Amino acid sequence: MTSLADRIAELDANDPLREFRDEFQLRDGLIYLDGNSLGAVPKATAAAMQDAVTEQWGEGLITSWLGADWVNSPRRIGDKIAGLIGAKPGEVIAANSTSVNIFKALGAALSLQKGRTVILTEEGNFPTDHYMMQGLECLSGGTVQSLALPAETVLDRLDEDVAVLLLTQVHYKSGVMRDMAAINAAAHTHGVLVIWDLSHSTGAVEVDLDGSKADFAIGCGYKFLNGGPGAPAYIYVAERHQHADAVLAGWFGHARPFAFEERYEAASGIERFLCGTPPILGMVALEEGVDLIAKADMRAVRAKSVALAQLLIELMKPLCEEFGFTLASPEDRAVAGSHVSYAHEQAYAITQALKEHDVIGDFRAPDVVRLGLTPLYLRYADIADAVARMREVCETRSWDRPEFRERASVT
Ligand SMILES: Cc1ncc(COP(=O)(O)O)c(C=O)c1O
Repeated sequence: MTSLADRIAELDANDPLREFRDEFQLRDGLIYLDGNSLGAVPKATAAAMQDAVTEQWGEGLITSWLGADWVNSPRRIGDKIAGLIGAKPGEVIAANSTSVNIFKALGAALSLQKGRTVILTEEGNFPTDHYMMQGLECLSGGTVQSLALPAETVLDRLDEDVAVLLLTQVHYKSGVMRDMAAINAAAHTHGVLVIWDLSHSTGAVEVDLDGSKADFAIGCGYKFLNGGPGAPAYIYVAERHQHADAVLAGWFGHARPFAFEERYEAASGIERFLCGTPPILGMVALEEGVDLIAKADMRAVRAKSVALAQLLIELMKPLCEEFGFTLASPEDRAVAGSHVSYAHEQAYAITQALKEHDVIGDFRAPDVVRLGLTPLYLRYADIADAVARMREVCETRSWDRPEFRERASVT
């Protein structure tokens, strides 16, 4: 019988993605299980940022809008992201934050759905998704009604008064993955448009927006795309919907921004979903991250993500029994994304104590330790080591210290 160590060594030796790890700056000994919150920095990013600051900005100054092609970066990066999520060039643009893009997508979808007033989501969706819906309701003076229903029943509410359904494909806490094609089909039967939040999907699972007849999607640049803290986000608008209104009608979304016309006339394509001036330094970092993941085969990424999760769940089983963890994610990885969550009454203190053992995961209120699995830079051996360190934290109760109980402002 092969030992666990042999099995893991074989998995790592046969990993088709193993060379990607070297492309990232990751300190020896650190096991980083939070790439689903903030991806690690690609080594190439520092040089690209240096060049953007000292050459493009420093020397080129404003001429770099054309000279370094800054002006086309949202569209150029959008086209690269499109390749990761089953969209065509011209259907995705890098812009703003995820939250702002949710607002833009909701507004655009509503403009196509005259007479329908309900915007729908599931309870437990990421808070910003709820807040953006509530903000729109407020702006509409109550004409638009924001509604959140339990995950099990939300699809039963699809009806003629529902304008848009906003769902996160991979749930931020549980990791449950929704069936995009089936939900799009069900929604379309009732004339409802769907907005997908792909924050925990893009770069981690295979996504086929066009193939599943998606309407709108948005997502983060700083998670599995490794674009850096607060990286620009992106928005997908299916070609057939690109005549929708851009409710945040900024000058970069105008048909002729440099004509400085006072009357808004939207650009004809995806550019209308830009708003103001793109944050170029953020775009430079994002592009490095996107370029790196674009070199990986997404099927291999997904296969490794599933295998890492299965290994983690297998190795955590004895700890669940001994130390009171409960798996809070699907064991069947066909219906899960790229993180595994465990509920534990000391989840916060355990997450903090793990950091002392050089394992970084995160805590999600009220009681979840969330372990993110990033196939580009995690090794199978890291999973085994992380579980061994978790065991040590539990056996020695090293989490049981006052400083590990005090909640920080970022968890
Ligand atoms: C599902 C989901 N949507 C949105 C966001 C964040 O939005 P923003 O980038 O605007 O902060 C997150 C952040 O973790 C998320 O998990």
